[in-house]
Amino acid sequence: MGHVAAPTAVRFEHRTDEDPVLGIGTATPRLSWIVPAADAAFVQEAYEVELTRAGRTPEVVPVTSGEQVLVPWPAAPLTSRESARVRVRVSGAGMQSAWSDPETVEAGLLRTEDWTARFISPRELGALGAPAPVLRSAFDLPGGVVKARLYATAHGLYEAMLNGHRVGDQVLAPGWTSYAHRLRYQTHDVTDLVREGGNDLEVLLGNGWYRGRLGWDGRHGHYGDRLALLAQLEVTTSDGGIFRLGTDATWTARESGVLADDLYDGQRTDLRPRTDIRTDAVEVIDTDLARLVAPDGPPVRVTQTVPATAVFSSPSGATLVDFGQNLVGWVRLRVREQAPGQEVVVRHAEVLEHGELGVRPLRSAKATDSYLLAGAPLEVLEPSLTFHGFRYAEICGLPEVGVRDVEAVVVGSDLRRTGWFTSSNPQLNRFHENVVWGMRGNFVDVPTDCPQRDERLGWTGDIQVFAPTASFLFDSAGFLSSWLADLAAEQRPDGSVPLVVPDVIESPLPAAAAWGDAATLVPWFLYQRTGDVGLLARQLPSMRAWVDYIAGLAGADRLWTGGFQLGDWLDPTAPHDAPFEAQADPDVVATAYLARSAEVVGLAAAVVGDADVAEKYARLAGEVREAFAKEFVTPAGRVLSDAPTVYALALELALLTTDDQRHHAGDRLADLVRSSGFRISTGFVGTPLIMDALTDSGHLDVAYRLMLQTGCPSWLYAVTMGATTVWERWDAMLPDGSINPGQMTSFNHYALGAVADWLHRTFAGLSPAAPGYRELLVRPAPARALTSASARHRTPYGDAEVSWQRSQGQLRLRVLVPVGATASVHIPGRSEPVRVGHGTHTWQTADPAAVDHPLAAQATVRDALDHEDTWQQVVAAAVETGVVSDEAQAAARLQAFLDAPSSRLVDALAHAPPGLAKGRQALHARLDQLLPP
Ligand code: BGC
Repeated sequence: MGHVAAPTAVRFEHRTDEDPVLGIGTATPRLSWIVPAADAAFVQEAYEVELTRAGRTPEVVPVTSGEQVLVPWPAAPLTSRESARVRVRVSGAGMQSAWSDPETVEAGLLRTEDWTARFISPRELGALGAPAPVLRSAFDLPGGVVKARLYATAHGLYEAMLNGHRVGDQVLAPGWTSYAHRLRYQTHDVTDLVREGGNDLEVLLGNGWYRGRLGWDGRHGHYGDRLALLAQLEVTTSDGGIFRLGTDATWTARESGVLADDLYDGQRTDLRPRTDIRTDAVEVIDTDLARLVAPDGPPVRVTQTVPATAVFSSPSGATLVDFGQNLVGWVRLRVREQAPGQEVVVRHAEVLEHGELGVRPLRSAKATDSYLLAGAPLEVLEPSLTFHGFRYAEICGLPEVGVRDVEAVVVGSDLRRTGWFTSSNPQLNRFHENVVWGMRGNFVDVPTDCPQRDERLGWTGDIQVFAPTASFLFDSAGFLSSWLADLAAEQRPDGSVPLVVPDVIESPLPAAAAWGDAATLVPWFLYQRTGDVGLLARQLPSMRAWVDYIAGLAGADRLWTGGFQLGDWLDPTAPHDAPFEAQADPDVVATAYLARSAEVVGLAAAVVGDADVAEKYARLAGEVREAFAKEFVTPAGRVLSDAPTVYALALELALLTTDDQRHHAGDRLADLVRSSGFRISTGFVGTPLIMDALTDSGHLDVAYRLMLQTGCPSWLYAVTMGATTVWERWDAMLPDGSINPGQMTSFNHYALGAVADWLHRTFAGLSPAAPGYRELLVRPAPARALTSASARHRTPYGDAEVSWQRSQGQLRLRVLVPVGATASVHIPGRSEPVRVGHGTHTWQTADPAAVDHPLAAQATVRDALDHEDTWQQVVAAAVETGVVSDEAQAAARLQAFLDAPSSRLVDALAHAPPGLAKGRQALHARLDQLLPP
């Protein structure tokens, strides 16, 4: 008899909390688990779920099924507050596992009627601009408490203290959702904080997203002008008694020492003990409780602290702190023996410019925290009702700042890490690390564009391109499915999708291709990565509405043309003050997305079993493709506007009809990359696709040249400039160290980091071939420039990993397949893939990248560009002889000569302007030695 290990990591929906999972928002949470190890012959054929509900005997439900991801709740639904202990065991191929450890799930308040509490707000205190209010209730409890829960949410941010102890470890609660439709509440376990006799519950309210500044036009109070709290404490005693306390008119209010708080501008806190605190009565606010929802994903927490790496003086004499990492959160500062009332001010910035804080990229966000000290022997200064994006801080008001007295507190959605990547190239590894930090800083309850300036909004286009990378790096399913519920809630009746979700800018544009397509593509990516069919079914009406809307804009000719588009936003060749003036034709971009979104709706409908809808949208997609080909593609395969992005779109979104066209388009794309000197020239739309387009069209070597380029603009350029996050612009910082003069100069934007998905899927070679990684596609792409790579992902089935090393003419490949999944492995050099089951597999084969072919005698100019060593020497010679100023210029000169014999390189390089003919002779002499005769 073989062996299968007991299941682990029993999960409920997409919640990733450590046991127990409190306050789940559904009565029938789906279950998933991992089988950590099993004999090769094991295949799950059945599972049993044991449920133990409070006060009842365990119930065991046997299910004949090979599924282990998001399986249906197998028993009667949970009622509000009810908890169940769940264990799972699996069997198959004559093997039977032991039971998993039990995990507990507890339902939240599932019905509106469960709320006896009402929102309350201070009558006078806590107005906008006034100190943050604290709401309070004092109450008595009997002894023998066995369980106590605090259910809470707010209009604004809330921070609860029970008997002087902080409730829970969440920050910026209740987070940011589309408050008018969905307001999240939290369930806190406060069993250890309540006590027999007198108790004191105090809750501080901050402005947060509800009433603070949002958007760049200086507006406050987007959701309302009054802060309010909803809290319901429920205490169960050993004799079965239930004590319930809810916010109502008996609560009181007082002023706190937080004099001002705003997410953009920062927090000002008076730490002095006060005797003249103003108090107030509260009143009940009439507001709809039906919009209360439980969290789908993890809360925002402090996820790390980062010590300061240096404290130094700026040229102007300011005290600056460097944390060595651009991050999101705030500064924690320890001060000793200062005078009461002394003011300490902390300002933040992502970069230095001329040695001082570079705050221009923050636009109007003040990002300043200040404190009036109490004068205690030791005071720890940190805010909690704001956050900043920064690497540097300036500290004023202290005679001295010791490097050990200051640290950065990292704040963000506490997502479970699920993806790792490493390679033999340290710069590439640093880039990948920057992508991870960019995600951590911009997954602050909402997927934001940036975390530092007066924006920090849920830009749809940004997450549309980054979602695949996000779902690899961290378990983003709960987080993004919550955001998608907001998207659907805010979609307008005509189906159009706001540019930002939650929509606080009341998007002036009716529809933007690649942005609104988040409605279709994000659910589809999530389905690919998690296998969550329920999510697709839930989003399908929203997906359809978007496609119907844009199909309507396109009209009978099926071409989405005209009107303003953001297009291939931030194409590096666009003027710095007009990021939408990209090389790629906006109509091509828009129509390509229409085709893709229509196709995805068709595919999604097929998955959820609606064949008619599937057929309708597949047909629409076909019509759009046909129209696209007719309008924008020449019979040979050249695409209108002839820019890398349009080829990437045409190739990756399957918009070309014949193989010849596809070859031609792939070749053309590769030539465009060559003649840009292997520098990137795509914006938000083309960047996530270009590496796949090059790889899939047979230009892997060109792809690597682009990926590993360090000149400006390129992915690694920022790394050479010391970046620790991904920048919004390719050249947010110019090579001379000055900040790009444009408006969009965030140093922490994840969009251009979307290429990391290619590093995982293609370079390392780990991608899902079936939804939820039930089948892995392992297809590594070893290259000469790199000797090793590996990608690891905690899939819904467990850990999967691909790693390869090249050495001494051999390629070693190692693949780990989790139990429940299979893999189809493409071993480099072999024509047929190998199918394998779970476990670790290794192969050794001849290294396909081992041989470095010399430049052939018949070589063309193109071949010379492709031959990296030769090309570097050509560039060096052309620069030294004064024929060109740099590689980019050299490559551009060659654009029209790629098919010419390499012997014509000199003519090509020195063909214009005539004044440069000077270096021609010298260059000739140099290249004669270098190139084949
Ligand atoms: C944001 C972008 C966004 C863009 C679209 C910018 O201000 O930071 O990332 O997608 O606007 O207009």
